[in-house]
Amino acid sequence: MANNTEGRRDFMGMALGGFTALGGIGALYAMKRSWDPLPSVKAAGFTTVDLSGAQPNVLNVEKWRGKPIFVLEKTSEMKDFEGDLVIGSKRYTVVIGLCTHLGCIPAWAESGWKCACHGGEFNTSGQQTFGPPPKPFVVPPFSVNGTILTLGETGSESKAMIDARA
Ligand code: FES
Repeated sequence: MANNTEGRRDFMGMALGGFTALGGIGALYAMKRSWDPLPSVKAAGFTTVDLSGAQPNVLNVEKWRGKPIFVLEKTSEMKDFEGDLVIGSKRYTVVIGLCTHLGCIPAWAESGWKCACHGGEFNTSGQQTFGPPPKPFVVPPFSVNGTILTLGETGSESKAMIDARA
């Protein structure tokens, strides 16, 4: 009888030890998962935009690091601006689509952007033209390779655009 009880205790001890070990492994795995960057964070660094499909006066809105990026191919009638991105014979406005007043997302209105929050307006180059916005839209860092923009990678083109708006 005593041997039977001891045998049962040994079995219970081993089973408990096994559960504890499994729990420990599970906890370590969960900790590793929580330390690893999320796939969305890993992918958030760079975003590519192909301008070959752009059309004049058609606003393309991309998303980069959770922010809207306005990409507009300008028409020949739209005013030139030294802060334009020029590729070949085409000119583009590439800006972060957040109002420089308090950060609302302005709406495209064919001849510029209008911000519904407090009435701010921006022209097709992204310069503030009316209302409370204190400065032009901000240019994101990007590099250019042919017609491909890589958002998140500072290149000479975006540096020149940022300098032109300073
Ligand atoms: Fe755009 Fe105020 S947030 S005008």
